[in-house]
Amino acid sequence: MTEFPPKIKGVVAIDGPAGCGKSTVAQMLARRLGYVYVDSGAMYRAVAFWASQAALDVEQDTEEIGNLSGELSFEFQQVGDEQHLFADDEDVEEAIRSVEVSNLSSPVSAIPQVREHLVAAQRQMAAQGGVIMEGRDIGTVVLPDADLKVFLTATAGERARRRWRQLQEQGIIEDYEQVLRDQLERDKRDSSRAVAPLRPAEDARELVTDELTIQQVVDVLESWLQDALARGGDDAQDA
Ligand code: DC
Repeated sequence: MTEFPPKIKGVVAIDGPAGCGKSTVAQMLARRLGYVYVDSGAMYRAVAFWASQAALDVEQDTEEIGNLSGELSFEFQQVGDEQHLFADDEDVEEAIRSVEVSNLSSPVSAIPQVREHLVAAQRQMAAQGGVIMEGRDIGTVVLPDADLKVFLTATAGERARRRWRQLQEQGIIEDYEQVLRDQLERDKRDSSRAVAPLRPAEDARELVTDELTIQQVVDVLESWLQDALARGGDDAQDA
C-alpha cells in the first residue's frame, strides 16, 4: 500500500487527446488509491446524447442545448466492475459510446454555456478531494489548483489503432482509415476551439504513452502524485 502524507486527499487532473489511454489509466489509478474517478468527457457525451434524443441541432439550437446541460443531473455509479454515468437517473453509459455521439460531443463541448454548466458540476465533484478527473481542460480550467496535473499523449496513428480495437471489441466494425480521420478531425476541433482548447497546463507533467504499458503509466503517475503530495505537505509545514 502506498504511503501518502496523512490526511491529504489529493486532486489529480489528467488531460490529453482522445485515445491516449487516459480513461483506463485514470480509472486504474483511482482504484489503486481508493479515489473517486471522474470521466468529464462522459458528461459532454451525455449532453450530446440528450440533445440528439430531443432532436436538437448542434449548429442551430445552441441555446437550447446550453439550457439542457444546466438542467441535467450527473452521477457516476459503480455497476459491477464498471463505472457508469447516470444522467437524470438514467444509465447512459452504453448510449454515449456510439460513434454518432462521439462525433456529436465535440461540437457540443464547444458551446460556452455547456462548458460553464459542466465545469461547475465537475468542480463540485472534486470539492472533497480524493479525486482523479480526466478530460481536456481539467488542469487548465476546471481544477487549476490540482496537486498533480498530467498531460498524456500518444501519436495519432497509435491512438486511432487503440480506438479501432476498442470499437471492434464492442462489435462495432469501422474502417481504420475512417477512425483515423474522425480522430484527427476531433483533435483539430478540440485544440482550436475558442473556449478551453486542449493544451497542457503550464505546470503539467507530460508523458508520451506509445511505448509504455498501462501498468507502467499508472506507476509513473502514482510516483508523481506521491512526490507532489510530499512537496505539498512540506510547503504546508513550512508556511
Ligand atoms: O474524452 P471523450 O472522447 O469522452 O470526450 C468527448 C468529447 O468531449 C470530446 O470531443 C472532447 C470533449 N471534452 C471536452 O471538451 N472537455 C473535457 N473536459 C472532456 C471532454
